[in-house]
Amino acid sequence: MPVLTVVGAQWGDEGKGKIVDLLAEQAGYVVRYQGGANAGHEVVVGGENYVLHLVPSGILHSGTLNIVGNGVVLDPDSFLGEVEGLRKRGIKVEGRLFVSPRAHLTLPLHKALDAAREGSASQKTIGSTKRGISPTYMDKAGRVGLRLADVQDPAYCMSQLKTSLQEKNVLFKHLYKVKPLTAKVLWKEIARASKALLPYMADTEGMLDAAWKSGKRVLMEGAQGTLLDVDFGTYPYVTASNSTAGGSATGTGLGPTRIGYVLGVCKAYTTRVGEGPFPSELDAKRNQALRELGGEYGRTTGRARRCGWLDMVALRYAAQVNGLDGLAITKLDVLDSFKEIEVCVAYRVDGKTIRHFPATSAELARAKPITVKVKGWQAPTGGARSLAQLPAKARAYLSFIERESGVKVALVSVGAERERTMVVDPRLRGWKF
Ligand code: IMP
Repeated sequence: MPVLTVVGAQWGDEGKGKIVDLLAEQAGYVVRYQGGANAGHEVVVGGENYVLHLVPSGILHSGTLNIVGNGVVLDPDSFLGEVEGLRKRGIKVEGRLFVSPRAHLTLPLHKALDAAREGSASQKTIGSTKRGISPTYMDKAGRVGLRLADVQDPAYCMSQLKTSLQEKNVLFKHLYKVKPLTAKVLWKEIARASKALLPYMADTEGMLDAAWKSGKRVLMEGAQGTLLDVDFGTYPYVTASNSTAGGSATGTGLGPTRIGYVLGVCKAYTTRVGEGPFPSELDAKRNQALRELGGEYGRTTGRARRCGWLDMVALRYAAQVNGLDGLAITKLDVLDSFKEIEVCVAYRVDGKTIRHFPATSAELARAKPITVKVKGWQAPTGGARSLAQLPAKARAYLSFIERESGVKVALVSVGAERERTMVVDPRLRGWKF
């Protein structure tokens, strides 16, 4: 069943963009299944840097069709701006990019609410990207959202907007002390954008079903990562959607039995942006050193990422909740200069040693990492094109990850460029799963 789901195994920014781009070369379809313009997938092709927020990374391969699934929340301005940027750089988009009619729209009201909530003393700071993601999913679950297909029906849109604003304007006016919005003004903006958006609308769920039935290769691309998943992440310091593998069924319309392989992308160390517990985070000096070595600054917000050692407790948990079939280890080269590398293998919480990932952020915040030291290889790995070409100690590090996580290393990345990759699992080469 040639359907491959690629998920982030940590707190996002694992390098999924590059891995998806690489695997997309052989895919018929690349599908985004959740999140919105909060994501920033970076791909380097022929020395050129592309940062994609909503458009699937498959767009950079001329033979691939790209789908924005129903689980994604679509910011019309961000999407149309990105499409225009790609077009200007000579990438053909027409006939290659399709959006589900069921995808919810992120509207100015959602962005205004996100910014107001993050800036308010009455709300917990999550470190949101302020792209309106959580308010869009709130309206989706609250049944007052607008979906792409809805923009064809102005009367319905006006009634949904009015219902939504009835509550929101009370908050804007009285709690956040910002200007209230009107349904009329919002509708005007939607109507303007919809002319440009509607040509991308297609029966994507039907397209994917037909693709699966005819044996086409489908790659489902997650945004963010397992520990930011609204159910399995470090709640409430999470994003608002299911970034784990299950989301690739509910966010595309392709049933879970169709998924043949789940690949977890994991950095050779750990990073996190935004607030929330992070047991293996380094002290300020070493945090900064690793940040500079890895170029760890957010692609969407430019924020400095928090850095730490690889956390095997979290990775084992990611393997469990995603049902990982293989691991793609990225940025191994960033560790090239270290004499010694630490890895967190368990936590010490309230005087007890635990090996499972706690359910609450409060418990995780009290967790002290129990680390083991692994010898560094102190040699460049960027030129390696097979495991055999890696220094023995780098191979030992990968074997350690396999043993501790219980998941085989399927792919190793040693640099941003496509060619700096080793595909280890033969199933990924032939899509035989
Ligand atoms: P939101 O999804 O913008 O509401 O942000 C919620 C949390 O998820 C914050 O901690 C963000 O920093 C984090 N987050 C959202 N998108 C990404 C991403 O693409 N990479 C890493 N972290 C992200």
